[in-house]
Amino acid sequence: MTGRKIVVLATGGTLAGTARDAQDNIGYTAAQLGIDQLLAGIPALKGLPLLAEQVAQVDSKDMTLEIWRQLALRCADWLAQDEVAGLMITHGTDTLEETAFFLQSVLAPAKPVVLTCAMRPATALAPDGPQNIVDALAVAMAEGAHGVVAVCAGTIHGAQDVAKQHTYRLDAFSSGDAGPIGYVEEGRLRLLRDWPSTAAASAPAWQNFVKAKAWPRVEIIMNHAGAGAGVVDALVAQGIDGLVVAATGNGTVHRELEAALKKAQSNGVKVVRSTRCAQGRVLPRPDDVLPDSAGLSPVKARIALLLELLA
Ligand code: SIN
Repeated sequence: MTGRKIVVLATGGTLAGTARDAQDNIGYTAAQLGIDQLLAGIPALKGLPLLAEQVAQVDSKDMTLEIWRQLALRCADWLAQDEVAGLMITHGTDTLEETAFFLQSVLAPAKPVVLTCAMRPATALAPDGPQNIVDALAVAMAEGAHGVVAVCAGTIHGAQDVAKQHTYRLDAFSSGDAGPIGYVEEGRLRLLRDWPSTAAASAPAWQNFVKAKAWPRVEIIMNHAGAGAGVVDALVAQGIDGLVVAATGNGTVHRELEAALKKAQSNGVKVVRSTRCAQGRVLPRPDDVLPDSAGLSPVKARIALLLELLA
């Protein structure tokens, strides 16, 4: 604990959600309660040097690039201030991994930026949000912590690896093969591996995104039994800039879809192959025509491609 401030940036999610019935953990409306009210309801936070700001109030399925722009600006502003030790961001679970990856890609912060969330609404009989907030703050205040991470159910995940893997359980996130960065146990951190890198900090990536008048259009399509050229052809006709294909297995694509993707690529559309498998990565081969996503999931490969197209 450093004595410096932790800034809490709120964006909504189930953590700020309410239901009519305390026993209803799924029939709720996300993003209803303000961050001041949520923090005031957690006695363990009394006396901590927190400063809270409501940046957005959305169900994270409705996350937009415009909100990301606002969030990136607020993060950069607070991170530049000496009296700020780190940031905590409250977020819905559904697109948390995308926001985490985006922020790590554009900021690669030398201070901790800790996203947290909840699987149950604030009005639940036993909400998980308050404990997640307490744990996330322990990480944000930890000496040596840096980079963008997510804290959920006592586990610290790096932005590169974190992915929502369960629709209902409180421990909904996994870091896949990489494993978590560590755990928060009664306020103490037990670290298993390094914090996210700060080496990738890139002023152009950050500035290009924030200053862009319009962002490139990058869509995700999926390979599946019976996949064909139709979706790719329709997107190309609309003027797409990039395409990520959530391929099967180790990056395989139905021959008809593959032909359409190669045609799109030869017409100037950037195409990247990820995999729809929840674990593992597409292993590259020297004769690959469609480049692989370097281990990124489809949603993260989309963000990486968007930033690459902006560069
Ligand atoms: C959301 O992602 O905003 C709603 C779902 C959740 O937070 O679990």
